[in-house]
Amino acid sequence: MPVKINENYLLLKSSYIFAEINQKVNKFQEENPDAPIIRMGIGDVTRPLPQAVIKEFHKAVDEMGQSETFMGYGPEQGYSFLIKDIIENDFRPRGIELSEDEVFVSDGAKCDTGNIQEIFGLDNVVAVTDPVYPVYVETNVMAGRTGPMGEDGRYEKLVYLPCTAENDFVPELPSEPVDLIYLCFPNNPTGTTLNKDQMATWVNYARKNKAIILFDAAYESYITEEDIPHSIYEIEGAKEVAIEFRSFSKNAGFTGTRCAYTVVPKELMGYDEEGNAQAINPLWNRRQTTKFNGVSYPIQKAAQAVYSDEGQKEIAESISYYMKNAAIIRESLIEIGLNVYGGINSPYIWVKTPEGMDSWGFFDLLLTEANVVGTPGVGFGPSGEGYFRITAFNTLENTKEAMDRISKLSI
Ligand code: MLT
Repeated sequence: MPVKINENYLLLKSSYIFAEINQKVNKFQEENPDAPIIRMGIGDVTRPLPQAVIKEFHKAVDEMGQSETFMGYGPEQGYSFLIKDIIENDFRPRGIELSEDEVFVSDGAKCDTGNIQEIFGLDNVVAVTDPVYPVYVETNVMAGRTGPMGEDGRYEKLVYLPCTAENDFVPELPSEPVDLIYLCFPNNPTGTTLNKDQMATWVNYARKNKAIILFDAAYESYITEEDIPHSIYEIEGAKEVAIEFRSFSKNAGFTGTRCAYTVVPKELMGYDEEGNAQAINPLWNRRQTTKFNGVSYPIQKAAQAVYSDEGQKEIAESISYYMKNAAIIRESLIEIGLNVYGGINSPYIWVKTPEGMDSWGFFDLLLTEANVVGTPGVGFGPSGEGYFRITAFNTLENTKEAMDRISKLSI
């Protein structure tokens, strides 16, 4: 018998959205070698790692070269020095108590949000907001929790919760029962948020229906407004129903360095076939200890430095730098008459495409006429059609230049 593949992979679109964009941009650049392309597509940061981080990173690398301080395998869950600082800085000030074994350090929120589905049964019904970070959808396709994608751009068996200007980008509770709910706020890609009451609606839904919320908070450091929760655990009862994913990528520039963490509270329960409650935390621990050998020591030392006074000061500067870009993008696009969302508690600006133009049409226009790259909204799901995402992660100079060029187009 010939070797069989996992046929679920054949259900996927041929390439990941950012790979597809890269191919198009590279082709355009080959044909137009002098075009001064400005990339505002993938959410990758441009500011270097904070000096406080670099200092500890270097020190830890040197330790690895001395027999007295060399470190081999570390704990798969992460070193206690980093986990203590995570709890002390990211949760305790918000009144959230966590124990060290509820925090799992990892190499990225993309990996964790992609891998988490492995510890849940294949017959769970999965709900996603639409548009959505493709990783949540595609990892469930790979696992076999969906059918094929229909003409409408939706995978069978997946429950889509549209988030558009019509509902202020606030997902409505599903009309059919769902088990696993992916929420990301501040949202990628729309840049919009949920306030405490709106988030409480979801926590209450999950408690009532014995569902679990997979809450991606990778962009929490961009929140500027008061009533927006930074952690889902700010909502009463959320520890019983939610896993939270955090990242050092967008707040501290770790996109290439890789460090993140996931919180799996001990109160969180799933159910076996007999209906007995089973704690989720030991399942994730078991998964990680088998499949993951932890984040390297120098990187965890570097991540710890994010919490030093100097580190905090430097990351605050970077975030306000990007948020200044976000304000420039918002103002420039509003000025030329476009409808613009997000960009106030988030580095993403979600733009309604001009009348009569779809997401890819707007992508092509900006690429060819302004040499500016963004992300077509439809790449994040069918409800993203007619929208376009621009990131604030480029330099101030490039952001201004890109907005100048777009402002000159006749849109
Ligand atoms: C994005 O552009 O959506 C980001 O790159 C997401 C990510 O961090 O993987």
